[in-house]
Amino acid sequence: MCFEFFFIANSVNLIRMIQIQNLKKRFGDNEVLTGVNLDIHSGETLVIIGKSGCGKSVLLKHIIGLLMPDEGTVIIEGRSINSMTRKELFAVRKKFGFLFQGAALFDSMTVEENVGLALKENTKMTNAEISRVVAEKLELVGLPGTQKMRPSDLSGGMKKRVSLARAISTDPQCILYDEPTTGLDPVMSDNIDELIKELAQKLKVTSVVVTHDIFSVYEIASRVAMMEGGKIYFTGTPQELVETNDTEIRTFLNRTDKKI
Ligand SMILES: Nc1ncnc2c1ncn2[C@@H]1O[C@H](COP(=O)(O)OP(=O)(O)OP(=O)(O)O)[C@@H](O)[C@H]1O
Ligand SMILES: [Mg+2]
Repeated sequence: MCFEFFFIANSVNLIRMIQIQNLKKRFGDNEVLTGVNLDIHSGETLVIIGKSGCGKSVLLKHIIGLLMPDEGTVIIEGRSINSMTRKELFAVRKKFGFLFQGAALFDSMTVEENVGLALKENTKMTNAEISRVVAEKLELVGLPGTQKMRPSDLSGGMKKRVSLARAISTDPQCILYDEPTTGLDPVMSDNIDELIKELAQKLKVTSVVVTHDIFSVYEIASRVAMMEGGKIYFTGTPQELVETNDTEIRTFLNRTDKKI
């Protein structure tokens, strides 16, 4: 009886939004992903760590079909994106917000134009409606009233926030963050971490965060995945990560701690 209740409770909590199965990708001779298997659950904040160049950004890009695998598949809410038509893939992408590594804002556009870009291009919303949504998202990331500024007028932290406002402009179910705190000072990094937590709670989004910042892991993760050798080497809670005796993980954590 008890066991049955436990099983049901767990299966209710863990709804798989994304399933990554045996994903393989090489660029020429460079074998980057050698068989990634990973489930990402609805509503969780999964943080992905691993050495520079191990394939974290490449993995994120596969999740929304910006890169296609040589083998294996990504399944979103039960459907493989690798056998979808362009139109179907486009519809799936609307469920996602992507914060690219580096802010990737368009310098020639204002903050308002940057944040409202996807709404202008992909919806039938009027300019007034777009302005209202942009104002609301800028408010959410703590930058109200910056609509007329240009990326060149913004600090690094502000640019990240504007990129985040852009990533959430379409009310995504899942936000993919690629190095959201890299290049920021500790205070600004903390602010961004707070924002990631707030968005997860307020918007009930699923969050996948790639980071080098080990403090962020402890701050925001409900679960951690570590990549090594083109595969997922470890998954567990932040507590399990801290307590592991695995030499590979300990070496990685010690090096990362020293860098900070
Ligand atoms: N479009 C591409 N064409 C060729 N090689 C690529 C391409 N994208 C990534 N790579 C290579 O794949 C490997 C993994 O790159 P990736 O950007 O995923 O690393 P990362 O883990 O995100 O590193 P970092 O922590 O420094 O951001 C690297 O060797 C990179 O040079
Ligand atoms: Mg990267």
